Amino acid sequence: MPAKQERRLRVGVLGAGQIAQAAHFESCTKASNADLYAICDVADDLRERMAITHGAEKTYNDYDKMLADPELDAVIIATADAFHVPATLRALEAGKHVLCEKPVGVTVEECRELKAAVEKSGKVFQVGHMKRFDAGLQAAKSFIRDEMGEVIALKAWYCDSTHRYPMTDAVQPLIVSSANARKPAENPKTNLRRYYMLAHGCHLIDTARYFAGDIVSVHARLSERAGIWCWFVDVEFASGTLGHLDLTVQVRMDWHEGFQIYGKNGSILGKTYNPWYYRTSEVDIFREADGATHRVLGADGHFYRRQVEGFARTILDGTPIEGADVDDGLASVQAMVAIARSAEGGKSVALADASGGV
Ligand SMILES: NC(=O)c1ccc[n+]([C@@H]2O[C@H](COP(=O)([O-])OP(=O)(O)OC[C@H]3O[C@@H](n4cnc5c(N)ncnc54)[C@H](O)[C@@H]3O)[C@@H](O)[C@H]2O)c1
Repeated sequence: MPAKQERRLRVGVLGAGQIAQAAHFESCTKASNADLYAICDVADDLRERMAITHGAEKTYNDYDKMLADPELDAVIIATADAFHVPATLRALEAGKHVLCEKPVGVTVEECRELKAAVEKSGKVFQVGHMKRFDAGLQAAKSFIRDEMGEVIALKAWYCDSTHRYPMTDAVQPLIVSSANARKPAENPKTNLRRYYMLAHGCHLIDTARYFAGDIVSVHARLSERAGIWCWFVDVEFASGTLGHLDLTVQVRMDWHEGFQIYGKNGSILGKTYNPWYYRTSEVDIFREADGATHRVLGADGHFYRRQVEGFARTILDGTPIEGADVDDGLASVQAMVAIARSAEGGKSVALADASGGV
């Protein structure tokens, strides 16, 4: 691994559950400009085991005590979705920077409250849309910004496979669970339509927005047959780009995620892998100028670690936020709510009119 820099961000991770174990602890320990300073979890068994495994300097069973630690610079919020906004508000009040897992919140209203608090705090707030740190997607973004000209159309798809658990079990570290872990009052998986949208839809929407900008309205249809949830969504982008999104869960094939973008001066075809393979997306960028296709290798496919490094750069060096900011997080939740309402009502729904939860 590249050597650690002299100036490093001291990060505390709230939550020692699945995503922290599979991504954030390792990301902090490997990051060149950050350290895993502290772990906080109410589950004593989980917290102490993870602190030993990953070498955290401090452990806390009480979030407020971790936030009161003057040595702590920033927190990663890796808890269930329903806790994201309350936990972020407390961190900002304590003067800490925040990298919060996606989706940033579960209702439009709480995300608006969060946006106001972030703006008032002056602290760095980034959402864990880690695909923005995939070198393939970054190459596509650069081409769109610098060379592609008008973006005529975008199609993007995110299809979670029935084979995902054998795949992830094979490559992730053993995920340790605890009966003492804190869970939201209502099990998020009791409503699968909602759960799939929040868990997966927000990735798809963020990828589409990363490339084509703000979404004005959506017109969605949902099929729930044969144990497959399939949303087809016509998207109106503010830029005039024609958009189509396909979110399918329990697809009967391999993980299937990617995008096609047609522009004035070229086109882009992208294939994205199950994230736990830590493999940079295969993104073919066709340049009309020379009639050739270019594909970046992206040897470093650890987008979760790259995300932490980007977050730390913004705080330590004052560089602009490289990932998703609070506006992106809010827009993603608005889009998910609008898709849900549109699928229910059969009509186009403007994001500006979206309210409540998915
Ligand atoms: N970016 C990605 O690719 C990706 C992948 C998976 C999950 N996620 C997101 O990560 C988040 C966490 O998911 P998970 O499956 O790891 O959750 P989890 O429920 O397994 O773990 C959360 C942990 O946080 C602890 N906790 C909750 N509130 C606490 C508090 N106030 N004080 C101390 N400890 C507290 C719990 O005890 C639990 O151990 C979700 O929002 C999910 O959407 C993101």
